[in-house]
Amino acid sequence: MFQAIKTPRLTLRAFEPEDAPAFAAYRNLPEVAALQTWESYSLENAQHLIQTMQTLGKPTDFQWYQIAVTLEEKLIGDLAFKLKGQQAEIGYSFNPAFQNQGYATESLGALLEYAFGTLGLHRIHATTDPRNTASIRLLEKLGFRKEGHLKENFWFKGAWVDDLLYGLLAREWKRL
Ligand SMILES: CC(C)(COP(=O)(O)OP(=O)(O)OC[C@H]1O[C@@H](n2cnc3c(N)ncnc32)[C@H](O)[C@@H]1OP(=O)(O)O)[C@@H](O)C(=O)NCCC(=O)NCCS
Repeated sequence: MFQAIKTPRLTLRAFEPEDAPAFAAYRNLPEVAALQTWESYSLENAQHLIQTMQTLGKPTDFQWYQIAVTLEEKLIGDLAFKLKGQQAEIGYSFNPAFQNQGYATESLGALLEYAFGTLGLHRIHATTDPRNTASIRLLEKLGFRKEGHLKENFWFKGAWVDDLLYGLLAREWKRL
């Protein structure tokens, strides 16, 4: 089972069925959904995802594992983690009411420490839409390097869009 991780202000923990309404509510906001794969996010979507996470129980090869980020027991965001052998891909979404306060940086930093330290991974990568300046800032602040700009790599909400690829190696993380 995924063991909760504490940071100075936050807890990263497994999702619980009670998180579904808050999870659906912020994921369904237009500003959160704008540059994500979904258009809208229903309570049923949230319940289904949480059920899948409970079945997985922990990060599992080639499956997206979603981690809840809480502040004083309140769900404020989620981190996504897809293990691929000694590598992983990450994602993240935060409730706008809890953005711009350093919570995304603090929780993703803890996830990187878990991935490189506890799991002993070699490399982590993320992709982001070039229009997503908050996401790019977050990755660069944590030491990710831009590895590529993939032209019209992704069919997204009715158009071909570019993707930026960011990578971070274990030895780069340890140096930080
Ligand atoms: C991408 C996303 C997670 C970024 O989150 P965020 O809220 O901007 O991230 P943070 O709060 O950690 O950092 C933002 C700012 O908070 C500020 N901040 C305030 N208090 C802070 C503190 N105590 N510690 C650190 N930073 C703090 C920092 O100045 C930082 O600004 P900077 O980047 O200029 O340094 C968020 O915009 C989001 O959820 N977007 C919608 C979903 C989405 O698009 N996901 C990405 C798909 S690829």
